[in-house]
Amino acid sequence: MEGRRVQQLLCLTVTLISTTLPSPQGLKVTPSRSQFLKEDSVSLSCEEDGWTVWRNTSRKKRRSCGDGWGKRDGSSCSISYMIDWDIGVYWCESREGAAGRSINITVADTVILESPVHPVMEGQDVTLGCKTSLQPFNLSADFFKDGIFIGTEPTGHMTLHHVSRSAEGLYKCNIKGSGESPLSWISVTGRAPPTSGSPPVNMASLESAFRVFCHLVVFCLYFISTLLMVSIYRQRATGNRMTNQPTHQSDDRLNNRPAD
Ligand SMILES: *[C@@H]1O[C@H](CO)[C@@H](O)[C@H](O)[C@H]1NC(C)=O
Ligand SMILES: *[C@@H]1O[C@H](CO)[C@@H](O)[C@H](O)[C@H]1NC(C)=O
Ligand SMILES: *[C@@H]1O[C@H](CO)[C@@H](O)[C@H](O)[C@H]1NC(C)=O
Repeated sequence: MEGRRVQQLLCLTVTLISTTLPSPQGLKVTPSRSQFLKEDSVSLSCEEDGWTVWRNTSRKKRRSCGDGWGKRDGSSCSISYMIDWDIGVYWCESREGAAGRSINITVADTVILESPVHPVMEGQDVTLGCKTSLQPFNLSADFFKDGIFIGTEPTGHMTLHHVSRSAEGLYKCNIKGSGESPLSWISVTGRAPPTSGSPPVNMASLESAFRVFCHLVVFCLYFISTLLMVSIYRQRATGNRMTNQPTHQSDDRLNNRPAD
């Protein structure tokens, strides 16, 4: 009986905690980038079961995977041959209509920028790549942020070390003789509530942290009281054992005891 009760409490608290933690709802893009060359293939999948990939393009709004585009396979969707018409905003949506964070996907003829699809954490390293479909090519690429030249990389890859909020912006790259990539927005989210920055994001993360904290407190209280109850029963059982005979019978009695 006691074991059942502990199990029930654990289930309850796990449910409480999991509902307060931010759920993924995310769209996973493979390969992980938001710019694609024509004829590339891409796999889009929702991190939550039962969610579906949707998109808006300039020609058609609110189309789910399989409805005129993509090949649907459960919560995943694949496009085997990207064309201009695939340029648009993509997101995951539940049957109830809840929508996850959306991602802009672009298709380019010759040059693309490879950059993180999702917001990156402050302090992380971010690697940018510049890729061209033209062969043979010189890998050396120029990188730009908000229209300002930030460096040339002979390898075509640039690493931004320990990014801060100021790294947020619109990036593009250029390969001489091949051309320029489209623009992609890179967003940086704060790890701890920073002193400055965009208030909505900070408030949201503070609020969810506070909710998690509250539920942790509730969980601890449940846990402590359960431990107390178990130890009280144990003590009673030990008392019984000393007055009666020292066998395992009392343990069995404890396990079969109906709840008070
Ligand atoms: C997609 O298009 C619909 C209809 O125009 C619009 O209401 C919705 O906000 C768009 N979704 C995104 C993520 O842009
Ligand atoms: C590649 O381009 C860079 C910069 O434009 C240049 O300095 C370098 O010599 C080129 N390399 C080759 C092999 O052409
Ligand atoms: C996505 O594209 C829309 C329309 O072009 C733009 O307003 C929005 O800022 C873009 N979002 C990101 C994250 O790049």
